[in-house]
Amino acid sequence: MKEKERATEIWKRTKYCGELRAADAGKEVILTGWVQRVRDIGSLVFVDLRDRSGVVQLVVRSDQPELLEQAKRLRSEYVVEVKGMVRLREQGSVNPQMPTGEVEVEITGMQILNTSKIPPFIIADPPQAAEELRFKYRYLDLRRPSMQRNIILRHQAALVTRNFLSAKGFLEIETPFLTKSTPEGARDYLVPSRIHHGKFYALPQSPQLFKQILMIAGFDRYFQIVRCFRDEDLRADRQPEFTQIDIEMSFVEREDIFELIEELMVELFALTGEKISRPFPRLSYEEAMDKYGSDKPDLRDKVGIEDLTEIGKGLGSEIISGAIEKGGVLKGLLVKGGSKFSRSQLDKLQEQAKALGAGGLVWVRQVEGGLKSSLKLEQDKLQTIWKALGAEDGDLGLLVASSRDIAVKVLGEFRKNFIQEKIREGKLDKNRRAFCWVTDFPLFEWSEEEQKIVSMHHPFTSPNPADIDYLESEPFRVKALAYDLVLNGYEVGGGSIRIHQPELQAKVFKVLGLTPEQAEQKFGFFLEALTYGAPPHGGIALGFDRLVMLLCGEESIREVIPFPKTTSALCLMTGSPSEVDERQLEELGIKVTKS
Ligand code: AMO
Repeated sequence: MKEKERATEIWKRTKYCGELRAADAGKEVILTGWVQRVRDIGSLVFVDLRDRSGVVQLVVRSDQPELLEQAKRLRSEYVVEVKGMVRLREQGSVNPQMPTGEVEVEITGMQILNTSKIPPFIIADPPQAAEELRFKYRYLDLRRPSMQRNIILRHQAALVTRNFLSAKGFLEIETPFLTKSTPEGARDYLVPSRIHHGKFYALPQSPQLFKQILMIAGFDRYFQIVRCFRDEDLRADRQPEFTQIDIEMSFVEREDIFELIEELMVELFALTGEKISRPFPRLSYEEAMDKYGSDKPDLRDKVGIEDLTEIGKGLGSEIISGAIEKGGVLKGLLVKGGSKFSRSQLDKLQEQAKALGAGGLVWVRQVEGGLKSSLKLEQDKLQTIWKALGAEDGDLGLLVASSRDIAVKVLGEFRKNFIQEKIREGKLDKNRRAFCWVTDFPLFEWSEEEQKIVSMHHPFTSPNPADIDYLESEPFRVKALAYDLVLNGYEVGGGSIRIHQPELQAKVFKVLGLTPEQAEQKFGFFLEALTYGAPPHGGIALGFDRLVMLLCGEESIREVIPFPKTTSALCLMTGSPSEVDERQLEELGIKVTKS
């Protein structure tokens, strides 16, 4: 005889709660789920039953006295199984806010499968609790319909990606987590070796070297939806472990990668019924910095930064001419409708500009009888500025005379803030999708923190062949065959055509200050692999969490990661990171010094 698996009878669910519609009226169903809410009105009890698909209303009537008593004992988050009949609700009680709002289930049987303590917060949208509490009780937080929807959409996005790439001939190949460090600009998470005291594995910041080695191994088209680990400062769009759609292809050029990724974006955003238009606009890094003060420009807003340096020379202002003579520029930003800014708002902008390194900020706006500016300038000069900015009645012009880098940084930061303001005020559609490619990044940059030259992407990025002669003499002049995919001001992907010649790779390591011995010690295995017939290759990695966040219309990747860490890299549910046993440390040969 089959052993009884649980005290209650085993019923088989026939439908998910959220699936029921008017067309199901008259059907017998068995549902399972969690009690969202109980409304006891004496002779009648209403129960909202929730499962991953949504909520449906159950009703128990007084002609079922035993059931009625049972239903009255239900509390939030009890787990129940019910049998019942789907019925159309009466006209007045139809709830158009709920997808199941036209029906209710009149129940004929119920089993309480489990009880629940009173949850620490109400499980409903929008979230009713602070993030710390939500993360501690993530399993309860994840029961909210919006979280269920996000996690389901994440699954669908992964599935679309796998199917799409597989149909294009890509193979999903796994690469190790216990490995050697691959530099992507962050610190590594290290894993001590028990067998080899004093030696450490690094968790991969990305599978960069393995995917390149897979190209050398002849796999030709690789992808992986893969976890990466980076010990870096966290923000709303960064986590210490995050997921990439990692892609690499042999015998390709940049255009092939752009085409593939644009097609993938069209398919991914079709999940939310959106139509993405192609091709995506392209901007060089220089153009992006000049026009938007950012290498990840938000193109939902067309207004950009204008170069007014030529005009600046003839304005007769010592401050402006002085800055330009020192090799600086005059840049301007149009603020549509900005003439309404109060004096204190303008003062605040001044302070912000100074905090970002500018000497000051000049504003121009229209008042009765002409234009007014924070700088004493003649009317015709102000008119020239006004025209160059394309300003109209009610607008405001903001100008910075400074070095180019500072001028675009200040105005780029303002532009970003104004976009957020426009979204809050409903003047800009938050849900518009503005993709672009940013190309032609410099190969190297100067790291203030490390006080040395570093790769802007990573050291395996190919220099533009036209610039190879300057690698050693003028490294900052060298452009890379690198590109980023940007969506609404977020960097959602980055990649490049790679170096496939060992000599060129060695030269780049040298520019980065690695001695041949250091290069050999860190990357010898890879340099050697390059000598055995490495094909020309290139690829990209997309930030899967960021993409899903944007698909879901969320503002933090924590909302689309089932078990995220806080901004201080803590998992509040499990309490990690945590101390370990003395014995474990001993086995690993590790002594902890308390700081
Ligand atoms: P990169 O470092 O630009 O490139 O990473 C690719 C994309 O991954 C996402 N991303 C992150 N998402 C969440 N949290 C983080 N901490 C985080 N860091 C990065 C971003 C980013 O655009 N190996 C190269 C790719 C290549 O060259 O093919 C790489 O990892 O969306």
